Amino acid sequence: MKIFLDTTDVNAIAQLSKTGLIDGITTNPSLVAKSGQNFESLLGEICALIKGPVSAEVTAFDHTTMLKEAFHLAKIAPNIVIKVPLTEEGLKTCKVLSEQNIMVNVTLCFSALQALLAAKAGATFISPFVGRLDDIGQNGLELIADIREIYDNYPEFKTEILVASIRNPAHVLESAKIGADVVTLPPDIFSKMFKHPLTDIGLDLFAKDWEKTNQHILKE
Ligand code: E4P
Repeated sequence: MKIFLDTTDVNAIAQLSKTGLIDGITTNPSLVAKSGQNFESLLGEICALIKGPVSAEVTAFDHTTMLKEAFHLAKIAPNIVIKVPLTEEGLKTCKVLSEQNIMVNVTLCFSALQALLAAKAGATFISPFVGRLDDIGQNGLELIADIREIYDNYPEFKTEILVASIRNPAHVLESAKIGADVVTLPPDIFSKMFKHPLTDIGLDLFAKDWEKTNQHILKE
């Protein structure tokens, strides 16, 4: 399973990419607003840090303008993925871009039927939002399982399931069990995945016992 970071925090990207475990980045207009930075220079900075896919979202609502924005953003770096909303105009745009071998992430997906249409439009990634469904009392992970089942029925679909709006490590665990292709995580959730209290307790005990041996692996 690929791990993307869902952030515009360049410092966090620089820091966490040193683990070698980060495969890509997703951004959205809210995260850009939160960064207070210029969108295009921000994307340039992120693409310099990350070789994998970096999603950049169009902001127009109509197909013609979306397409112009997409071509403009795609010029920033070869690893830019154009993010379009799951609307009729967005999927028209997805179809044109995918036919020109430009990677597309179809975002704001809340139903399996929407995901089916995105795959037919040639999306590289479909982004179902699990947390926002949970927030309104629906089951976000059930949507991931439904999309997995549908996509597996049609091997000609190459679209990868990119689980978005992740709120906790359990969302990551369940997404992996379902067989999602990608999860995109806020940096704090990625950091939490390393942690277990028994690891800390065990490490502390080993360190204390090792000290008693008076040995050193590296001789000075
Ligand atoms: C995905 O690409 C979106 O940027 C993101 O996951 C949305 O998450 P939120 O519901 O926490 O805003």
